[in-house]
Amino acid sequence: MPAQFVKELGKQLKEFELSLVGTDPLYASNAPKSDAEKDLLKKLESGKAKVLTIDDGGTTVGMSADYAIVQGCADCHNNHPKTTKKDWKKGDFMGAIVVRMK
Ligand code: HEC
Repeated sequence: MPAQFVKELGKQLKEFELSLVGTDPLYASNAPKSDAEKDLLKKLESGKAKVLTIDDGGTTVGMSADYAIVQGCADCHNNHPKTTKKDWKKGDFMGAIVVRMK
């Protein structure tokens, strides 16, 4: 992408957040932040799409599905003191990488 375009876009962005959301998050701060985000996560979980973007009341939200691609993902989450789910296994849909832009 041309550098000027990227820089111009960057100037227009007031807020940019890169984070993670989960279906059964270790921390409440990693739960979907709105009903629209909950819907988006459900759509990704259904497997019909890998990446989705919506406008959530002025915030552009993009999510990219995150799966337990190796057993290590499941093991660490199952053994974390904060976990509410202890039966994660390889291949499970765990949540998404999320980008929120204003
Ligand atoms: C060494 C332990 C460890 C491993 C390995 C690990 N995670 Fe996590 N994961 C965490 C912790 C701790 C958090 C919470 C981080 C935070 O919010 O500060 C987290 C957060 C997440 C979240 C956000 C929802 C939540 O649970 O809070 C997702 C989704 C996630 N991890 C998916 C994965 C996937 C997929 C893999 C494998 C590719 C993986 N994790 C590997 C420890 C781990």
